[in-house]
Amino acid sequence: MPEPEPRGDAAPGPAAGEFRFARLGLDDLPGLVALERRCFSMPWGEREFRLGLEGRVFNVFGLFGPGGLAAYVSFHHVVDEMEILNIAVRPELRRRGLGARLLGLALGICAGMGVRVARLEVRAGNVPALALYARFGFARVGLRRGYYTDTGEDAVLMSLDLPAPAAPGGPGAAGPPPGLDNSGAA
Ligand SMILES: CC(C)(COP(=O)(O)OP(=O)(O)OC[C@H]1O[C@@H](n2cnc3c(N)ncnc32)[C@H](O)[C@@H]1OP(=O)(O)O)[C@@H](O)C(=O)NCCC(=O)NCCS
Repeated sequence: MPEPEPRGDAAPGPAAGEFRFARLGLDDLPGLVALERRCFSMPWGEREFRLGLEGRVFNVFGLFGPGGLAAYVSFHHVVDEMEILNIAVRPELRRRGLGARLLGLALGICAGMGVRVARLEVRAGNVPALALYARFGFARVGLRRGYYTDTGEDAVLMSLDLPAPAAPGGPGAAGPPPGLDNSGAA
């Protein structure tokens, strides 16, 4: 089980709001792969990210700080459903709100496109991620026993209903960022 990390407000360094939010593309692959390797026991490699980005199979957004890419979230969406594929924050920058900011932005983008349900799966022992998702209101809706092949850990399936898009002209009604639409796969 991961060690509890110190609260961000006790750690020196920039606050979550000081990081720049941006959509990631092929130019960001080296930073993305390096971050992935630091955060996961079964990391995606450059090939997986490249195929997904080139084929527009999924979207990746990130937060950039003074040291480069600090965090990323990947998701795909089809019509009114989206799935969070991954979210990761550089170990030394955790517990200062970056994960929550990124997840909130991804869900907000999707809600603005008319996505109504967000889904994800997470290792049953991933205490920080489970706490993050619970804070956003994700509910446990299922379990896949022994799903993760490296440890045999179960996958917890979670789901969250998203609010309906804002009224035309209202806040959040601006629509998706350039390059994102809701005509089908992301
Ligand atoms: C999960 C992860 C993305 C959280 O990122 P983060 O920037 O540290 O999270 P935040 O600082 O935004 O925390 C938001 C909330 O999540 C929960 N949380 C985050 N880390 C936690 C921890 N170590 N222990 C308990 N709760 C935690 C808390 O509710 C927290 O709110 P609080 O700080 O007000 O208590 C980060 O731990 C990470 O990158 N883990 C490795 C990759 C991973 O497992 N990703 C999930 C794949 S499904």
